[in-house]
Amino acid sequence: MNTTPHRVEHQQTDRGYVPIYTTATVEQPWADYTPTEHEVWATLFRRQREVLKGRACNEFLENQERFGMSPDAIPKFQDLNKVLKAGTNWEIVGVEGLLPDEIFFDHLANRRFPVTWWIRKPEQLDYLSEPDLFHDLFGHVPMLLNPVFADYVQAYGRGGVKAHKLGADALMNLTRLYWYTVEFGLIDTPEGVRIYGSGIVSSKGESIHCLESDSPNRIGFDLERIMRTQYKIDTYQQTYFVIDSFQQLMDATQPDFTPIYARLVQEDSFPAGAVQPGDRVIHRGSGEGWVKTDEM
Ligand code: PHE
Ligand code: CO
Repeated sequence: MNTTPHRVEHQQTDRGYVPIYTTATVEQPWADYTPTEHEVWATLFRRQREVLKGRACNEFLENQERFGMSPDAIPKFQDLNKVLKAGTNWEIVGVEGLLPDEIFFDHLANRRFPVTWWIRKPEQLDYLSEPDLFHDLFGHVPMLLNPVFADYVQAYGRGGVKAHKLGADALMNLTRLYWYTVEFGLIDTPEGVRIYGSGIVSSKGESIHCLESDSPNRIGFDLERIMRTQYKIDTYQQTYFVIDSFQQLMDATQPDFTPIYARLVQEDSFPAGAVQPGDRVIHRGSGEGWVKTDEM
């Protein structure tokens, strides 16, 4: 393919922020990346590798090294795919932006991880409101080399295909699980609590905040608790859930969720920052800096 793929981003309208969805898979136009884009990668790569020492879990750090990613240039999907295919039989596919749920689930169910081909602009180093190449490649791809986690993400994709057919409530419960594990998960290790969530490892501020700030709750993993918990998409999380092992995550999600979804329809959801009776509280958040919008 020699047509340049599109850079599909959200739009800001008089109704506010509107996400835009796109379905295509595209070749990575590697030769077209500009020196500025390679430089954005280099800056973020160096910065995050430094921040993540002693903060990200070993599975993340070591698997990232196995890919041979470096600050020298934006990695080529082709090169990464050789390692990924041989390792856990996953592959990266290039996409232009956010995918509709059912297409995203179908990719995961078939061990294809969608990676946005474009990278953020220099003025967006600290924050942008949607996934880009840095988040997807640096953040998600390393954990796909972990055999248990790789199977978990595929099982999630299959579960997503099913939840999509069941309806909006089931989909919301399942999406919260992805959010609080794949994107914002923490893991307890012999060395202390560490990060594995991709949304955290691709953010300098949140990598520090999630472990060191007094503000957020850190609570032991509980499947149904997570499925009932609202989340924030435009601020740091108010609650992080801590797993003991990737096997725990895998085991907890093996049962058929259909009866769980049916039960949860009857129950209220929990505000993002509220501690619940029965929580295994590792750290009770001070709530400092939270904007009180939950009651609105
Ligand atoms: N067991 C879940 C279901 O029946 C599928 C799933 C597996 C969901 C792993 C998330 C993670 O729907
Ligand atoms: Co992500």
